[in-house]
Amino acid sequence: MTGAFYATTPIFYVNAEPHIGHTYTTVVVDTLARYHRLAGEKTFFLTGSDEHGEKIAEVALELGETPQAVADRYSEAFSRTWQTLGFSFDRFIRTTDPDHKQVVQNILQKIYDAGEIDFREYEGLYCIGCERFFTERDMVGGKCPDHDRPLESRKESNYFFKMTHHFEWLIDYINSHPDFIRPDRYRNEVLGMLREDSGLGDLSISRPKSRLEWGIELPFDTDYICYVWFDALINYLTGIGYPDGPDFATLWGASQHFIGKDILKPHAVFWPCMLHAIGLEPYQRLNVHGFWNVDDRKVSKSLGNKIDPLVMRDKYGFDSFRYFLLRDMAFGTDSDFSEEALVTRINADLANNLGNLVSRTLNMTGRFCGGNVPEPGQPGAQEQAVADAAATAAGQVDAHLRSCEFHRALEVIQGLVDTVNRYLEARAPWKLAKQKAAGWQAHVNTTLYTSCEALRVLSLLVAPFMPETAPKILERLGIPDALATTRLPDDAATWGSLAPGTPTSKGAPLFPRIEVES
Ligand code: MSP
Repeated sequence: MTGAFYATTPIFYVNAEPHIGHTYTTVVVDTLARYHRLAGEKTFFLTGSDEHGEKIAEVALELGETPQAVADRYSEAFSRTWQTLGFSFDRFIRTTDPDHKQVVQNILQKIYDAGEIDFREYEGLYCIGCERFFTERDMVGGKCPDHDRPLESRKESNYFFKMTHHFEWLIDYINSHPDFIRPDRYRNEVLGMLREDSGLGDLSISRPKSRLEWGIELPFDTDYICYVWFDALINYLTGIGYPDGPDFATLWGASQHFIGKDILKPHAVFWPCMLHAIGLEPYQRLNVHGFWNVDDRKVSKSLGNKIDPLVMRDKYGFDSFRYFLLRDMAFGTDSDFSEEALVTRINADLANNLGNLVSRTLNMTGRFCGGNVPEPGQPGAQEQAVADAAATAAGQVDAHLRSCEFHRALEVIQGLVDTVNRYLEARAPWKLAKQKAAGWQAHVNTTLYTSCEALRVLSLLVAPFMPETAPKILERLGIPDALATTRLPDDAATWGSLAPGTPTSKGAPLFPRIEVES
């Protein structure tokens, strides 16, 4: 096993059912986790639920339930949905898990003992939706732009983490590690937040129990609980056995967080400062994505425009939905969601292109080669061109995935499908089989071997993106267990491992064309 990969989704607030936004981050991490596993790296994928804080206490009060009961119900909804959708996470962490509580208290005590915490009175404006204080410059028309609700004026005594002491170090770190936060625009945004005139001060890390009891108690003052973001960020350490679990050091050294742009500040400022205060290296990389909008507004529970991933799965198949999410959003920028765009994409790329290549190749293998992978003749220039295109695609998909350019990786895969489709058109094996001119069988055998082998490569390349589809194609190619021993990108870049004589099968269309009622 070479290399390691530790990837996290944000942990989800337990006040809403999973929607397209939560699903997108999780699809991204799932795709990467699957790729890195296939690349033979020690991989850990963490997701979970963020259960403390005022937001949840508020919902519980409205519902007349305990916060624990609300948290149990929604956390269960997330973990069940994530299982139903087939996400390959290694742990679903809850911030109410006993090991997490212990790690949070241990870290609070460590920072307190290091003299990094003091007690002060503070007055400011708070957004319960974001669970954070606002500076004047964050507000739009006196409101939180994300939650469209008035901010609450707060004046109380609290414990503060002396975060500003770490700003100089953090600015240097960001400047000397160009890949620390990506894409670049977010790195620049963070450097802006850290400028002296930005108004970002020390971090209030407690809430008095007199106002909020739902949280982890401070180990050095039992009248207070821990601020929800301070507690939540630490899940990334608990999840892999901080401080002395057997895999902790390896995984932490390979850690990548994936988040939406609305939670940039806690991840890019609070979190590295907290890690620095406890003497840990920062995470390796922060990857920031944009928002899915519907009618130009962010999808959210409060706006009532959420897209349910289970409904999408039932209607279109989850692989197709995953494909759309990864293909139609350039990681880092916003995208608009519509079912029309989804259907257009599925029909064009999956039904007409990839699905069609699978069915025409296997149909012809059945009709002209007795259903077995044929023995090819000497490859000519046309065959060599397909083999070269496959090797190039394998390298490009690897590079694009490692730099979070999912849409580009999928463009490369579609490009390879196009190449093979064009190759088939040029070789026209159906014409030769019909005319039965001298040497037709050898020509057809070489052509269909090339096409079957290209399908093998394509299955390996799509496996991280479409985990249900790849095994189906491999099964039809007669190599159902191929993924168990696959090493990417090498096994996709190496041409010719499909053995002649392997029995193939046709199967039903992988992506039936979706007819739209007009
Ligand atoms: N609990 C915090 C995260 C704590 S991590 C230590 C939180 N939870 S959340 O449930 O509100 O959001 C989780 C993720 O979903 C965030 O990354 C957020 O950006 C993402 N999305 C929520 N709506 C979204 C869209 N409409 N589009 C894309 N992602 C968005 O924040």
